[in-house]
Amino acid sequence: MPELRVLFTREQIAARVAELGRQISRDFAGEPVVLVGVLKGAAIFLSDLARQIELDSTFDFISVSSYGGEKQNSGEVKLLKDVDQSMEGKNVILVEDILDTGLTMCYLKKMVLAHRPKAFRIAALLDKKCRRLQPIQADYTGFEIPDEFVVGYGMDHAERYRNLPDICVVP
Ligand code: IMP
Ligand code: MG
Repeated sequence: MPELRVLFTREQIAARVAELGRQISRDFAGEPVVLVGVLKGAAIFLSDLARQIELDSTFDFISVSSYGGEKQNSGEVKLLKDVDQSMEGKNVILVEDILDTGLTMCYLKKMVLAHRPKAFRIAALLDKKCRRLQPIQADYTGFEIPDEFVVGYGMDHAERYRNLPDICVVP
């Protein structure tokens, strides 16, 4: 196993996620929201974020494949699981672990907008801005990070390390 370096501790993550939750609660004050998590990487972020949002909220999940165990994005996005309910007229917050090239998020944004939601927002725990190939931004970003491969807090390398409580860099 390679030596992992901690980039964000569980305490730093918890504090930032709480801030994002407060921001979302303020922005949608009094309105219901649907949190749509992108499996599997965003599952832990969504579960923590949801508990920091003081709004009437429901969950849905979507699954796409883009990496296939590799560190490099193939550029191909394939829908493996769609949302269970219509997003029409709802306040949708797409919850993603990392915004990297933006290919996945652009594809998902188009898909959700086709449902005609009332509002559409993106919450990304991490943002690798320097890697962007598509012009897309998150409305709520946890941390901006350099071009390094990270694992933990839901994120994997070949399906491993998702259960690490801290976010770590794979050297
Ligand atoms: P994009 O389509 O290039 O923006 O890729 C986004 C997806 O790639 C994210 O949802 C992650 O699942 C995955 N990804 C990108 N960078 C990393 C990383 O450093 N660690 C783990 N997964 C990553
Ligand atoms: Mg992902």
